[in-house]
Amino acid sequence: MVEFKFEVKARDAAGRIGKLTVNGKTVETPAIMPVINPKQLIVTPKELKEMGFDMVITNSYIIYKTPELREKALEIGIHQLLDYDGIIEVDSGSFQLMRYGGVDVTNREIIEFQERIGVDIGTFLDIPTPPDAPREKAEEDLRITLERAKEAEGVKNIAMNAAVQGSTYPDLRTYAARKLSEMNFEIHPVGAVVPLMESYRYKDLVDVVIASKLGLRPDRPVHLFGAGHPMIFALAVAMGVDLFDSASYALYAKDDRYLTSEGTKRLEELEYFPCSCPVCSRYTPQELREMPKEERTRLLALHNLWVIREELNRVKQAIKEGTLWELVDERARSHPKMFAAYKRLLEYRDYLERNEPVTKASAFFKVSEESLSWPIVQRARERAERVAKKFPEKVSHPIFGEIPRYLILSYPFAQSEGEEDFTITKPRKNEAKKYVMAIAEYQFGERAGEAFKDAFVELSRKTGMPRQIKAKGRHLATFRAEDGLLTLGIEGAKRLHQILPFPRMRVVVNSDAEPFARKGKNVFAKFVVDADPVIRPYDEVLVVNERDELLATGQTLLSGEELKVFGSGLAVKVRRGVEK
Ligand code: GUN
Ligand code: ZN
Repeated sequence: MVEFKFEVKARDAAGRIGKLTVNGKTVETPAIMPVINPKQLIVTPKELKEMGFDMVITNSYIIYKTPELREKALEIGIHQLLDYDGIIEVDSGSFQLMRYGGVDVTNREIIEFQERIGVDIGTFLDIPTPPDAPREKAEEDLRITLERAKEAEGVKNIAMNAAVQGSTYPDLRTYAARKLSEMNFEIHPVGAVVPLMESYRYKDLVDVVIASKLGLRPDRPVHLFGAGHPMIFALAVAMGVDLFDSASYALYAKDDRYLTSEGTKRLEELEYFPCSCPVCSRYTPQELREMPKEERTRLLALHNLWVIREELNRVKQAIKEGTLWELVDERARSHPKMFAAYKRLLEYRDYLERNEPVTKASAFFKVSEESLSWPIVQRARERAERVAKKFPEKVSHPIFGEIPRYLILSYPFAQSEGEEDFTITKPRKNEAKKYVMAIAEYQFGERAGEAFKDAFVELSRKTGMPRQIKAKGRHLATFRAEDGLLTLGIEGAKRLHQILPFPRMRVVVNSDAEPFARKGKNVFAKFVVDADPVIRPYDEVLVVNERDELLATGQTLLSGEELKVFGSGLAVKVRRGVEK
């Protein structure tokens, strides 16, 4: 039995903080697996664990081909062999296949070997077709990879990677991703991207990753195979990548190269260290240069690992704050090819919009011209245009231009920062209802405003802002001071449920979940049977049963498409249940 779980905890852009569980061990994603060369340990796996790396990757093919390692691994298992009690993933020899043209093992043999040595996550022998291969070659390689996937699916008893291949043909990538998603695998690496990264073809990398993501089930973690440079973490996570692996920390160290989140430096060119990790705090570049090679390599490897860890933490913090696009924008400035990739990513408007949260913990900062192409801006404009048909009065906003006057309090219009200041005029008492109606149309879609047509809006005496929204003595909704959007009360949810035709804003759960939802308990993804595809992450939704009876209202973590697919983790943070 494969014990494997992946849950989403928080999100921003198309990226997510997740929790991956395998064989009783967990790791928070996005995560990077340092690559362990079992023949040469520069930093021991135990030290890696102490530095906070809860997952490592090594190569089962190297172990298989090295008699001493092979015997020992079969005897004591890979965790004892490496002296590492975290999650161990292994590759299969596919990379060797790409680099040296062949390997000395069959697909079935390497899978069985991985299982026998007790790995947590295996990889079958996919064929990494390099970029720009002739179409026929890419197709033929992919045919074999999919055949091997079928074989792997039949024999495997462990969690397993199924890498998406297809060279630089987007349609082949999407096709491969769809086919593999239909099969029983746990993780999907995007394969054969190392040559793209080595030649700074980040724009092509974006095309390959997005083409793969478009075909993949959203509930499976995605690994960017062979990517470990901190410079690309923010961009890759924003695309929806969850896992990385790094051999570079050690390979670069051996070559006297020093990683930073903006690029790579040569030790010889450094007068000062732009870092305060334990290594860089203790030594100067000159002192490091004067050290014996072996010691220097180890210290550079440690620095490289600290930087990797730090950048990953920065990305995770940005997801929590809702500032991942700001970080991507900042990183894009460190290399023209990164900037090109960033601009290319922003062209995938629909993909990005489907994944983009509807609200964030931080204000929108217009830090560049590119900021105006972020999905949050595109969505705000489209929705504002729709609302303007019913609420044509306009005000001028320094970033967004003319917007409906009654949306000025709501995210991202009020919660934005550009070069010019603007003042938000507080709603007058007699117009407060119009604000709420316009916000409802903006947030929940056409006709939603009708639910509030007889509403009385309480204005805060301290701030002048709307607070509680009531009708006939009943609570309809709360205006959130943070983002100017609405949280529904039971009465408001009931009204929206009547006005909006099925499946608008609905998350449909099965009968097991019904009593819990009615009591106001959270809804988990495994109980969800259907959902409105228009739902976006962090939307306020209506939880209903299969007869479309309203059970609860709350905030969802997942998009409508994801709600239908995810089998574990939280789906809706229920705010209020509707008792029978
Ligand atoms: N390591 C780097 N790229 C690849 C790939 O495409 N497949 C496998 N299995 N390993 C890799
Ligand atoms: Zn350092």
